[in-house]
Amino acid sequence: MLAPLAGVTDLPFRLIARGFGCGLCFTEMVSANGLVRETAKTLEYLKTCPEDRPLGVQIFGADPAVMAEAARIVGEHDPDILDLNMGCPVRKVVKTGAGAMLMKDLPLAGRIIAAVVRAVKKPVTVKMRAGWSRATQNAVQLARIAEDAGAAAVIVHGRTADQGFSGFADWSVIADVKRAVGIPVVGNGDIRQPSDAQAMLKQTGCDAVMVGRGALGHPWLFQGISDLLTGAAGADRPSLAGRCAVIRKHWEMELQHLGPRQADRSFRKHLLWYTKGLPASGRLRETMGKMTDANRMIAELEEYFRFLERVQPEIMT
Ligand SMILES: Cc1cc2nc3c(=O)[nH]c(=O)nc-3n(C[C@H](O)[C@H](O)[C@H](O)COP(=O)(O)O)c2cc1C
Repeated sequence: MLAPLAGVTDLPFRLIARGFGCGLCFTEMVSANGLVRETAKTLEYLKTCPEDRPLGVQIFGADPAVMAEAARIVGEHDPDILDLNMGCPVRKVVKTGAGAMLMKDLPLAGRIIAAVVRAVKKPVTVKMRAGWSRATQNAVQLARIAEDAGAAAVIVHGRTADQGFSGFADWSVIADVKRAVGIPVVGNGDIRQPSDAQAMLKQTGCDAVMVGRGALGHPWLFQGISDLLTGAAGADRPSLAGRCAVIRKHWEMELQHLGPRQADRSFRKHLLWYTKGLPASGRLRETMGKMTDANRMIAELEEYFRFLERVQPEIMT
């Protein structure tokens, strides 16, 4: 599965991930308050298309009634899954009582899950952290509450909220949750290569794995994971020409999705991820950082990949 990633997992990126066999994608977190006010910007996050299936829409908020109403609005857009964010540690979110703050108030978390389950016919999932802090680790309790409240599955990111995105994810928490509940458990945190996915499944007994940052600039990771798990003769990672084609396609979809002005700004981070660690990419990355014209950026990119093919045709990271 592709994790919800704010500012990243928009429709074009989800379609790219699906092209490499990703089985389920999530939108980035969408504000329940924004949905209830039906602000145009919030509804943008729900943009999808028939190829973008199955799709989970994630919402965040701290009020059971508002979350239920937001879920009902999302339900009208016919998602396959409705996911509740109980893991975001970002200040702007936790100061409203939402995201990981709900791990400090499990009764409220339970009321939110129950209210949303009552409001929609779709399966409801809950994405959580290991806990707020190491000393107050309570993913097992929240997972049990979620199961009792009617959640269809839980997603466990093995970091605590106070770790933010640093340090390592503790997969043993995922194993603890798996032992504690009967509903499916999705493991998340630090899957960077196919062998990590296999190791997480083996070590934790989880039912599925969710990839976040490992897919940035490497959407073909999904293909690698499914090849490894199914024993398929690894199609290997794309060649340099193949990579360049993926980047172009992704960019073209982003242009269509957002329009030129926004797409150029939004795509720059993907370009940096796609070219990170490639030989002699420093100059290209610096130039791209300053450029504003999409056509010139594409020309620079293609020129760079032609250069790579001349000097190191076998590069694959
Ligand atoms: C840029 C960024 C944005 C994120 N946005 C969300 C989000 O909207 N909702 C959410 O539940 N988690 C969000 N996360 C957390 C990821 O979904 C995931 O749980 C976390 O990155 C750990 O997985 P990883 O080690 O595979 O990256 C975000 C993480 C990053 C790095």
